[in-house]
Order: sequence, then structure tokens, then C-alpha cells
Amino acid sequence: MSLETDFIVIGSGVAGLRASIALAEAGARVTVLTKDKASESNTEYAQGGVAVVLSDDDNAELHEEDTLIAGAGLCDPEAVETLVTEGTKYIQQLIDWGTEFDRDGGKLVFTKEAAHSRRRILHAHGDSTGKEIVRSLIARAGAEKTIHLTPFANTESLLVSDGRCVGVRFLDPILRAPRNIFAKSVILCTGGAGQLFLHTTNPPVATGDGMAMAYFAGAEMADMEFIQFHPTALNIENAPRFLLSEAMRGEGGILRNKSGERFMERYDERLELAPRDIVSRSIVAEMRKTGTRTVFLDMTAMDETFLKERFPKIYETCKFYGLDISKDLLPVSPASHYCMGGIRTDLHGRSTVHGLYAAGEVACTGVHGANRLASNSLLEGLVFGARAGEAALTDNFKFQISNFKLEDERSVISNLEFGVATAVKKRVKRLMWERVGILRDRESLQRAIRELEQISKSNLSTSSNNFVTLALLVAQAAIWREESRGGHFRNDFPEREARFQIHSIQKLGTLISDSKTVDFGPRI
Ligand code: FAD
Ligand code: SIN
Repeated sequence: MSLETDFIVIGSGVAGLRASIALAEAGARVTVLTKDKASESNTEYAQGGVAVVLSDDDNAELHEEDTLIAGAGLCDPEAVETLVTEGTKYIQQLIDWGTEFDRDGGKLVFTKEAAHSRRRILHAHGDSTGKEIVRSLIARAGAEKTIHLTPFANTESLLVSDGRCVGVRFLDPILRAPRNIFAKSVILCTGGAGQLFLHTTNPPVATGDGMAMAYFAGAEMADMEFIQFHPTALNIENAPRFLLSEAMRGEGGILRNKSGERFMERYDERLELAPRDIVSRSIVAEMRKTGTRTVFLDMTAMDETFLKERFPKIYETCKFYGLDISKDLLPVSPASHYCMGGIRTDLHGRSTVHGLYAAGEVACTGVHGANRLASNSLLEGLVFGARAGEAALTDNFKFQISNFKLEDERSVISNLEFGVATAVKKRVKRLMWERVGILRDRESLQRAIRELEQISKSNLSTSSNNFVTLALLVAQAAIWREESRGGHFRNDFPEREARFQIHSIQKLGTLISDSKTVDFGPRI
């Protein structure tokens, strides 16, 4: 039996929760489907904080400028302006809803991260900013009677009728069977795809499902080649790559090689606070030079009490692995962390498919360009989550749900195998890490594409097919971009090229095209 609601939101991270609240505040019925428990998301694990213009020595122009510089010529200036100017209002609202950012004597405290010209990062419980934001948003959403949140409801495809997205197909956690649910519109807030790579800071839910679903529904994807690799993930054999926040370097942490040398001096004058892509590549170069698989983060010059208070979660996690951050050098190496590209949207979350919206990491609004400025994504989730909710409401409120004739065969196949098969996942993750990772070239990318195409020809479940297709989109965009820019580095094209100051656009049925701008105006 099919279900019906007013609006469907997929995902319960910062973007999904904020979009749901925007819809519910207007009285709409909102069904939130989420893959795991409600709090499981990239948002939950965000450490460093949220960038916002609230300190006395800061202003929106400075935040805008830092974001544009980090984006390496591919940000949409209007999107950036929207982010930094509206961001303050949404953070103020979060505080009003009970989010407890860290304070000193009642005044908000701000930390610094790479490529920020000011201390403008708010944080909570030291290094548990995301957890605190999720806590307060879940509480706020819980107060809205029209929000119905279903955990453990894995969604695997979108329902399309007459070129319009009219619902989704998900695994009903109670019936343990696939089910269709119809609505006036769908907002994808499924987050990023860090799990495409062998080493990642992202939790297991971050498999990029929403991007693949949107692609199969006919949506345009933009800038998929731009993956951000975070320089400092804890590197302990057989343990997940736990993030050691950039804020640790912001507070004075130093990177050393196996001989104890501070090597960043040889790579960039901004040292440990150079942009992430530069620090990640410098680490790779240093590891190669010294024949090791790790470098070290040194926090030992700092007071133990300060470290325990400032980074309590990191302190405890390192302790679990037998490391005392105030005394030991911490083994670190880069790991995939964030997708700059995604579903192409306008400034209101509208994708190129009618009835389909996207917000947060799954979307490409043009805010991040080729490289995201640290701590801009929680802010993006809030600002563009709210805007997508509002647009979905005003664009579609009068739309009538009826007996749709579905176009996508994938939505009527009774496929009981939800989730990406382990063997496929392992193979793709290794391939992506080795051939589509921090350093790329034509040969490595060609080999990756060949192997991915081969995997995609095997008999895959819908979720596995989504995963492999997404990997292919990243690899194909990466081979197309014959230059190095932001998070995308080609050994065979190490310079930035003016002719590539354009976005890669991918759409089902066409391999790749380009566009000068991501903002394409209203699509209603
Ligand atoms: P997410 O928070 O990832 O939420 C996605 C949701 O979609 C989840 O609920 C997931 O379960 C659900 N979902 C996914 N697929 C499906 C499916 N098929 N069916 C149903 N549900 C699905 N950014 C900052 O700005 N500051 C930071 O300090 C910071 N630190 C970070 C630290 C770590 C370790 C990581 C991994 C990221 C960090 N980031 C940080 C990035 C930031 O956390 C994310 O970009 C942001 O939280 C994304 O929010 P979102 O709502 O778009 O997606
Ligand atoms: C971090 O704390 O280093 C992560 C911040 C981010 O990804 O924005």
C-alpha cells in the first residue's frame, strides 16, 4: 500500500531538520525518512564549529571574501553573499532554540580555522558542535506536531511522473518491505559521499545516495570532481579515521614528520593553517619523501587542562587508543571529508527536476566552489535547508497528489536488497582512494573508469548501482577537468587554467557538459 503526505524530507542532519521545521511552521505535514537513527549523520560528528559573522572585529564582506578565495574561482558570489548575510540570523535563531555554543563569562567565544581571516568559528562543548546542533534541532522539530520522523527508513529511488518528482521509494522499517510514499515535493538532504573512499572521516551513512537518486531521476549534477580531503584524520591501523579537528591546528597544533621536523615550512608560508588541499598534498609528499604512511600532529606544547576542556571528545577518543594528546605525537593522515559538488540547485534549493529540492552537502548551490572554507557547511545546511523548505512550500502548496503513472522502472521493481553490498563497497572504496584520490592523473582515472564500468555491468541491487554510478560520476568529472583547482589536483595538469573556470555538469543520457554559472533562476 502506498502512503501520502504533503512534503517528504530525506535525511535528518542539519539541512533536513531545518527544512522540516520551515515546512512544519507553515502547518504542512512533513514526513522525514532517515537511514539510521535520527541523530546519525555527518552533522552529528562535526567538531570544529560553525563559521558566522558575530564577533566585534568581523563583517560579512570579510567572510564572503575568505569563502570566495577558498572556492578558487568557482563560487557563485550571490550564493556566498546569501550564506554569510543570512547566516547570522539563522545562528541567532539556533541560540534562541537552545543551542549552547561555548562562552566565556557569558560572551560567545570564537576559534580560528584555516583560510579564515578572523576568529569566527563558534563551537559547542569544545569539539562536539554538530552533536549540540543536532540535539537542539531534534528537540525543536519534535515540538512540531506535523513532523513525522521515521528512522531506519533507507530510501533508494525517487518516483517521477510526467517529469516531476512525486515521491520516493523506501524500505519500511516496520513492514521490512519496500514502499512508495507520494507528496507534493521531495527535499533531498542526504548529505555527502565520503564513504566512496577507503579512508574517510564520514560515518557509514554517508554513501551519497541522494546524489545518485537525483541523477537517475534526471537532475543535473555539478562539480562532482571536487572532493575535500581533510589533512588530519587519526591514523591507527584498523580503526575508523577519526577526525582531529582543524581547530587543533587553529589553537597552535604543529605537523611533524617521523624525524620530528616541522615540515609545513617547506610547503606553504601559511604553515599548518594553509588551505586543506595544500596541507593534505604536503602530507602526502612528506609521507612519500620519508617512506612512511603517517605524519604526526603535535599538541604537546599546550597545557593539559586546556586541551581536556577545549577538545574533550578528541581527548577521550585518543585516550581510548592509548594516546595522551598532551604528551604523545598523534599519527595522522588525510581522509576524504566533504563533497563540494552535488545536485545542481538555485538559491532556493530547486533542482532541475520539478518537485525535487536539495539542501546541505548533497546539493551544489555554488557556495563552496572548488574548495569549501572550513566550518561553512553547518551554516550552509541551516541557511539553504530553511530556504529549500520555504520554496518547496510556496512552489507546490496547491499541487494535487493523484494517481500518478510512474516513469522510472526502478521504482516498481520489488527489490528487497537495500543497502550497498559489502563486496562492491570495498572494491569501489579502494579504487576511488587509489585512483581518484588526493592526486589524480589521466591514466589513474581511465583505469578507475574502466573498472567501475565493469562493476556496474554486474547484477547490482539498486543501492549498489547508486554507489557505483556516483563513483563513476566523480571519476568522469575528474578526467574531464584538465587542470588543478581547489580540491581537485591533477599531476598531469598541475596548474589552474582560465578556460576551466566553469562548472562540470552531468546528466543522465549526456556524458558531461559545462556551465559558467550554477544559479539558473526559478524553475517553477
Ligand atoms: P548530514 O548531516 O550528513 O545528514 C544526512 C542525512 O541523510 C543523515 O540523517 C543520513 O542518515 C540520511 N540519509 C543518507 N542517505 C539516506 C537514504 N538513502 N535514505 C534515508 N536517509 C538517508 N562542517 C562544518 O561546518 N563544521 C565542522 O566543524 C565540521 N566538522 C565535520 C567533522 C566530521 C567528522 C565530518 C564528517 C564533517 C564535518 N563537517 C563540518 C561537515 C558537515 O558536518 C556536513 O557537511 C554537514 O553536517 C552536512 O549536513 P547535511 O544535513 O547536508 O547532511
Ligand atoms: C574540523 O573540525 O576540522 C572540520 C571542520 C569542517 O570540516 O568544516
